[in-house]
Amino acid sequence: MRILLLTHAFNSLTQRLGAELVRRGHEISVEFDIADSVTEEAVALFRPDLIVAPYLRRAIPESIWSRHVCLIVHPGIVGDRGPSALDWAIQDGEARWGVTVLQAEAQMDAGPVWASADFAMRKVKKSSTYRNEVTQAATAAALQAVQRIEEGSFVPQRPTALPSVRGRLRPLMRQSERSLDWARDDTATVLRRIHAADGFPGLADSLFGQPCHLFDAWPEATLRGTPGAILARRETALLRATVDGAVWIGHVKRAGSIKLPTALAFAQESQAIVQAPLEGWWRTALATWQDIAYEEMGQVGFLHFEFYNGAMSTVQCERLRLALQWAKQRPTQVLVLMGGSDFWSNGIHLNVIEAASLGQGSAADESWNNINAMNDLALELITCERQMTVAALGGNTGAGGCFLARAADRVWAREAVVLNPHYKNMGNLYGSEYWTYLLPRRVGVAAAQAIMHNRQPLTALRALEIGFTDACLAGDAAAFGAAVAQRAQALAASPDLAATLNAKREARARDEATKPLAAYREEELRHMRRNFYGFDPSYHVARHHFVHKTLASWTPRHLARHRELGWTIP
Ligand code: COA
Repeated sequence: MRILLLTHAFNSLTQRLGAELVRRGHEISVEFDIADSVTEEAVALFRPDLIVAPYLRRAIPESIWSRHVCLIVHPGIVGDRGPSALDWAIQDGEARWGVTVLQAEAQMDAGPVWASADFAMRKVKKSSTYRNEVTQAATAAALQAVQRIEEGSFVPQRPTALPSVRGRLRPLMRQSERSLDWARDDTATVLRRIHAADGFPGLADSLFGQPCHLFDAWPEATLRGTPGAILARRETALLRATVDGAVWIGHVKRAGSIKLPTALAFAQESQAIVQAPLEGWWRTALATWQDIAYEEMGQVGFLHFEFYNGAMSTVQCERLRLALQWAKQRPTQVLVLMGGSDFWSNGIHLNVIEAASLGQGSAADESWNNINAMNDLALELITCERQMTVAALGGNTGAGGCFLARAADRVWAREAVVLNPHYKNMGNLYGSEYWTYLLPRRVGVAAAQAIMHNRQPLTALRALEIGFTDACLAGDAAAFGAAVAQRAQALAASPDLAATLNAKREARARDEATKPLAAYREEELRHMRRNFYGFDPSYHVARHHFVHKTLASWTPRHLARHRELGWTIP
């Protein structure tokens, strides 16, 4: 079928669904929901058999739903309606939740149900539930709905006609319904409420007497204090006491500013807060905030880096490089880089870079420092001689993060993840992280150029097919973790390991003799210097729009295929 994806943004769910539909032989084009007239034009140009809306924030106009079947993906159980579906589910402590695919009609979220899927809720932030359980259920349900439409015999029923419907209409959740009382609320309540608002809109509160929205909350098992007091600082996070414990706040958005690591957003105020550093890199036994954590199982080391949104600032890259350097000295045979639970890495930290330009600093300088720190980290990985290295992608990864992963000897990805191994979307950024060395030798020069030029997301399966990755493992995050551990143990125990390590060292020496890594880096950075300091401000403009979440005013041409030359309004 010819399917138009009508969406607020090309987010990871839209990317995944689009890729799965293409894999099933459908013809896909994408239009952002910008204005009714623009959507009408897109429909006239593409003449779709079906419109699927994976992520919408407004209603579809009657001029469209009255003439075309439009499937809406709603992140709620059957019968649930309203714009804060997941927020309510998390805040109310629902044990199970779901996704419903229904047909657009005049009344929002009330049309006939074409498919639904449900899942067990984890006690995690909303964005994590969205990127994992919701995306998985939405993809399954949307594919089933599309198949039912293709087959033609299924008769969808309105929720009101279905038996034992639990969902109901609930309004937009207001900040007054999210609010915290630090003098009364326990840790579980604080976590649940901040999680329900993470990553958008955040929970409106205040720190140091200044209004701000809170994100990225983590429990603390040992440190205690007067409820509401700020007790400690660790790297980028601050610890605030609850009635029965304390909660680390990793990120905040101050009024009129952008979302930033807490200790950076309140840089001056944080200076006076006592530090509570962790000793070394070993994973702590008790709950606390630990962004870099190492653990070992026999001959295998696992390095976790739980960086919010997968964004890696200069300091985070430098700390991770030190941790990697240390892990390389451990008596292990295999070293697995696990990334974080939602993202593996999304490259340089665009918000921290933007923040440099908000103060006295320079976004160009901070970009330069950040990309050099990423490169140092990638170099540390490429030059690992004693262990086989593995990048285990349990979460999505994009831009420089993909090439940092490719710097490992093996890349194993979870089946549900989406990779975006390209940079151009960020204002024509050329990219570094040694991609000019790492990519062509995996996929060939022509394919490398096509990946960079086409800027399309890759599913884990597609990434394996084209040779970008080395394995695609099924299952949820827990099953993936277990499978990675098992494969890594098998690799460490392999009788061929010594020979494989020898071959790797020889290949690296040969490559170095042909063209040193320093030369690749220098060439890439020559382009990057132009991106950061040159006359064309595209990267700075794109970054500004990205971090300030400027609403799109058109759909990029590489997504809106119906707007390519040659398509005309009939
Ligand atoms: N720096 C700072 N924040 C980043 C980031 C980065 N490099 N990459 C993603 N984020 C943030 C987003 O702003 C968003 O923040 P929010 O929670 O406040 O809304 C969050 O991470 C999730 O991103 P989103 O775009 O919603 O996730 P996605 O899974 O739909 O898409 C990407 C993933 C990678 C395609 C997309 O985030 C992207 O293009 N990121 C920029 C990558 C980049 O250009 N890096 C710099 C060059 S190395």
